[in-house]
Amino acid sequence: MRIGIGNDHVAVVYKRAISAYIRKKYGYEVINFGTDSLERFDYPLSGKAVAQAVVSGQVDKGILICGTGVGIGISANKVKGVRCVICSEPYSAKLSREHNNSNVLAFGARVVGIELAKMIVDSWLNAEYEDGRHQKRLDMIEAIEEDKL
Ligand code: RB5
Repeated sequence: MRIGIGNDHVAVVYKRAISAYIRKKYGYEVINFGTDSLERFDYPLSGKAVAQAVVSGQVDKGILICGTGVGIGISANKVKGVRCVICSEPYSAKLSREHNNSNVLAFGARVVGIELAKMIVDSWLNAEYEDGRHQKRLDMIEAIEEDKL
């Protein structure tokens, strides 16, 4: 499993902590698409980079962290084929996998504590898409991207 991770200047410490956590606990490869500088960094750049890595298959899933998770998550969702969940608790993270087949997770370094962030990541990484009745709605989301809904 390869995880692409991206962040802005607000989330450098969180990016490093979450990357180390995933490598140690899961043994997954974590590829860094974010900044390691505390200089201001525009979050759309890393949101787009991780999103493109996911849809191209360079990585299997993406994780994005900025101050709130909102700007970087919205950026990722502009890339066709990305279903990025922006959340601050484990329940939505889990259900976003099971029902929405989310392929990118975003959260905010100014919103959640680091231990809660790890719980969110665990819920998201451990949940699987349930398919079945959910696929029709995902097809509809895809149809919106094609302007066919
Ligand atoms: C940066 O100041 C901040 O706007 C960014 O980290 C994020 O919260 C945007 O959604």
